[in-house]
Amino acid sequence: MAMGIAVKPILQTLAGQTGTVPPVWIMRQAGRYLPEYRALRKGAASFVEFCLNPKMASEATLQPLSRFDLDAAIVFADILLIPYAMDRDVHFVAGEGPKMRPLDRKEPLSQLEKVWSLEKVDAIGETLQRVRDKLPQNVTLIGFAGAPWTVATYMVEGGGSKDKWQSRLWAWQEPEQFDALLDILTEASIEYLHMQAKAGAEVLKLFESWAEGLPAPFFDRFIIRPARNIVSGLRQRGVDLPIIGFPRGCGTQAARYAKETGITAIALDQAQDGLWFNEHLDPSMVVQGNLDPAVLRVGGTPLQSEVERIKQSFAGRPHIFNLGHGITPDTPPEHVRELIDLVKNIP
Ligand code: CP3
Repeated sequence: MAMGIAVKPILQTLAGQTGTVPPVWIMRQAGRYLPEYRALRKGAASFVEFCLNPKMASEATLQPLSRFDLDAAIVFADILLIPYAMDRDVHFVAGEGPKMRPLDRKEPLSQLEKVWSLEKVDAIGETLQRVRDKLPQNVTLIGFAGAPWTVATYMVEGGGSKDKWQSRLWAWQEPEQFDALLDILTEASIEYLHMQAKAGAEVLKLFESWAEGLPAPFFDRFIIRPARNIVSGLRQRGVDLPIIGFPRGCGTQAARYAKETGITAIALDQAQDGLWFNEHLDPSMVVQGNLDPAVLRVGGTPLQSEVERIKQSFAGRPHIFNLGHGITPDTPPEHVRELIDLVKNIP
């Protein structure tokens, strides 16, 4: 073992430390805006195969770190690997995004539990171990899963969709059955995140990318309850890692999410006003966010003033700088360097 205590700014911030220079990483930092990712990706026949190949996935995880002074690495994987492991025929169609066999309400949900096995996604543990072995000592390794509602919408709709209509109809028409579906995804997510913690993840993140548009009682039932169950399920299994929750698009409901789920940090999207949240969140709640990915694409003066504004809006609170959603494939990599310089060098 190497001697000396590694100083990891993200872990310090998640432990409640504040400072003038927030640590920084970028949502979707490994991906198509990097030419070296696009080249590596050609080595696998399908996206799922790529995710399940620890050699390629660990290389993709580390790629952004060799270019940029980032404070975190996020394991290269996807939120749809759980439906993949439930035999939903998950595949990615170029230009169209993810597709899978839609869940029919008449199918017995017990079938999902029966076919699910952690072994089908074991490779992610090996990716984490490989990355941990090569990680610079100031960099924090993040593991993740999709949150149950978001994953369920892909399963019910058979892919991405604008308004999650079939999922919302199901939730109104058969709420108990919908709870049961979310409970199955909750259990699988607990096992999957527990495995990632054992394999070397130092922080866990829950991506609730489609938390928008739900009335308050549904937000409590289908978003807050499963997140709280995942957090408590992990704690019961002895996982004491910090957990970041990202209920994207839910506006001020994120304050309730932060308070009621037991998460360590709340990731905000760009539409959520930092000043409002600074006032309404418990002072000990860590925040992550929330630069508009479009201003990162633009760069220059608008980027500089946004970085300043966001840093100021969270002043005095533990803050991890990040985007409000994923970096887009058309963003010049140079802008990421510019962003990191601004975060670290603007007082
Ligand atoms: O650095 C990283 O963050 C890479 C790891 C990562 C991926 N997906 C790789 C990926 C992570 C953390 C995700 C999370 C993810 N996946 C989310 C939550 C975050 C968010 O953006 O809201 C969601 C909703 C998905 C589902 C998903 N996967 C979609 C909708 C798509 C297609 C759209 C797109 O961005 O292309 C994917 C495919 C995907 N996942 C790609 C990558 C790099 C692109 C496919 C490819 O490179 O071949």
